[in-house]
Amino acid sequence: MPTPFPELSLRRLTLDDLVSCVDLSENRGWPREEHKWGLLLTAGQGYGIDDPSGQGLLAVSVVTSYGPDLSAIGMVLVSERYARQGIGRRMMEQILEDAGKTPLTLYATANGRPLYEQLGFVSVGSSEMVRGHLRPSARAAAEVVRTRRATAEDLSAIIRLDTEVFGLDRTHMLARLPAFADQIRVAEENGTLTGYAAAWPNEDTHVIGPLIAQDTGTAKALIASLAPGTDRPFRTDIAVHHEELLGWLKEHGLETVASNTMMTYSIDALPGDWTRRFAPLSVAAG
Ligand SMILES: CC(C)(COP(=O)(O)OP(=O)(O)OC[C@H]1O[C@@H](n2cnc3c(N)ncnc32)[C@H](O)[C@@H]1OP(=O)(O)O)[C@@H](O)C(=O)NCCC(=O)NCCS
Repeated sequence: MPTPFPELSLRRLTLDDLVSCVDLSENRGWPREEHKWGLLLTAGQGYGIDDPSGQGLLAVSVVTSYGPDLSAIGMVLVSERYARQGIGRRMMEQILEDAGKTPLTLYATANGRPLYEQLGFVSVGSSEMVRGHLRPSARAAAEVVRTRRATAEDLSAIIRLDTEVFGLDRTHMLARLPAFADQIRVAEENGTLTGYAAAWPNEDTHVIGPLIAQDTGTAKALIASLAPGTDRPFRTDIAVHHEELLGWLKEHGLETVASNTMMTYSIDALPGDWTRRFAPLSVAAG
């Protein structure tokens, strides 16, 4: 098959491209999510193709590196006008080539999944995006496991726990969390951190993520303890193998609004400990 639009090339994006990225999200019916784009374009590496008409970008994606053992791909978007013409495939092929031997992961929408499968990505699980106001009845969970607001002194313990559970060091993301998130809560047992959760503002919601906890009870307590700090509905992406937590969230006011397939390339499974990893920081960054 001839290369589509041979004159179009992928370039590295900077924060100056934020508005074009946000416009492209909107073009595909996604929320504008400026706050999230700001994080992704600073902590990750955005790639894009300029629209020859001079009107912004016609394709984008973001690659967040976690060192030589994993990069996460997210926000893969091709403008409606250029869809189904091979541009998404070309952009992904370029990203795979640039990644070299580094394993990759992403959360695929139903739209994106066929393309990723054709490129050799395999499914390793799925997640449900749930949204809604947590009912006051859920607050009882916060009384079972003690949690508290995180302070600056907790950051190194958060990073230590996160590295163990995520399987890789993501200090470059977590160091940005205090500025990016509106709330960070920790759970502790005998002076040792057993979990943490952040809630960051996204459009009209607060997204819960990362959510890391030693067990479901701790995850529930962390979520319940975030609720008094916001009037907005929550949104979070819970890996479906955490059935109990998903069931509890649905019993207490949240409902499923989307689902995604977790996929990898060059590795059979994600590193780390999935039993303690309940929600990603964002599906766009892992
Ligand atoms: C998914 C997306 C990036 C694909 O980009 P694209 O440039 O349209 O894709 P391509 O033309 O390179 O198509 C590659 C293959 O993907 C599959 N594909 C593309 N769009 C699809 C769709 N809407 N439904 C089902 N399969 C689709 C097809 O198999 C296609 O190959 P074919 O046209 O030879 O059958 C684009 O449709 C998009 O931006 N969608 C909305 C946002 C989204 O869901 N992004 C994925 C996030 S994980």
